[in-house]
Amino acid sequence: MRLLRSACLVAEKGDQLLLGRVRQNEHWYLPGGKIEEGESPQQALQRKLMEELGISVDPKSVRYLYTVHGPAYDRPRDVELVCFSAQWKNSPCPLGEISDVQWLHRREQAKFAPAVVTSEIYTPGHTQNASDFMAKRTLESHGAFFLPYLKSGLSVLDCGCGPGSITMGIAVRIAPGEVVGIDFAQSQIERAKTAAAQGGVRNVRFDTGDVYSLPVDNGTFDRVFSHALMEHLADPVAALRELCRILRPGGVIGVCSPDWGGFMLSPPSPELTRAVDAYMALQSKNGGDVRVGRKLGLHLSAAGFEAVRISARYECYPSLEFIGEYLASQLEREGDARSAVVFRDWSQEKEGMFAQAWVSAVGVKSQ
Ligand SMILES: C[S@@+](CC[C@H](N)C(=O)[O-])C[C@H]1O[C@@H](n2cnc3c(N)ncnc32)[C@H](O)[C@@H]1O
Repeated sequence: MRLLRSACLVAEKGDQLLLGRVRQNEHWYLPGGKIEEGESPQQALQRKLMEELGISVDPKSVRYLYTVHGPAYDRPRDVELVCFSAQWKNSPCPLGEISDVQWLHRREQAKFAPAVVTSEIYTPGHTQNASDFMAKRTLESHGAFFLPYLKSGLSVLDCGCGPGSITMGIAVRIAPGEVVGIDFAQSQIERAKTAAAQGGVRNVRFDTGDVYSLPVDNGTFDRVFSHALMEHLADPVAALRELCRILRPGGVIGVCSPDWGGFMLSPPSPELTRAVDAYMALQSKNGGDVRVGRKLGLHLSAAGFEAVRISARYECYPSLEFIGEYLASQLEREGDARSAVVFRDWSQEKEGMFAQAWVSAVGVKSQ
């Protein structure tokens, strides 16, 4: 599926957002614009802000915030907004096709373009740290619960595949069958394609797509797998219904997500508890559910799956540094420097522990 990718500036003053609009248009957009072929999102942001608002941002101040996926007018959900904060000196003035620039209060949401008003933001973002963190996972380490359902010759979809390390493990298992990895972030799909080419894995394809509206025909796959996606979704049951649609009758789905109610962190401290609470509040504010693990079975049943089976396990991280930085950098981006310091200090503890509870659920599509 072709996504429209834009680099956008998120500039906030209290409850106001800086927005611009094209003449005659009833909707207001985040400043920025299309990322051209061969251009980085940061370069596109700087170019568009100069062309459309006449502002020259300080390149050192450009900081990635998050990526939002939302609807375009004529299509359900296929605009990708790579969002940044930045600093500039001169006042914005509308140029080119932009007729107005204004600070609008969030309560004026009815005037915002659909992709600006989104109830779902992918909390980790697609930074190098977050992507490297996911790329350490393998089918054996994180998808073992689904191994009994993977056999040679099957067709499989891995939804929310990220950098594709688990997807490639599936490819090895089901060869000569084919696995398709789908993710709404083009950066992840590009990384996954490179890894597959480097690893010489031929029976894998990667494509961009949104779990709520997949570019796939009904009943296409024998198996559907999705790891660490449901906790980021505002409507996991709608997503599971869509996954049910593309599964063949009698096909099997396997989903796995953490449940923050079961995490164990050590050494405990009131500061660490507050920092964990801040992270959970951030993910909830972004539309996710930090306790989705325990609900996976219920969600599969609500989406129409049968014979649902649930299991759970703990993952104990060998070193705290990666997970500490992963959590700290996300909170820092949101302006919570205090919690970021707590996570970074804690991650230096030699005898510390981070044990993450993962819940897996398997279900069958009725014949
Ligand atoms: C936490 S990562 C998990 C990646 C991989 N499955 C793993 O476990 O290592 C979640 C992935 O889901 C993708 N994602 C989030 N929301 C999505 C959506 N609505 N549709 C498709 N992919 C989505 C993100 O871009 C991200 O790469």
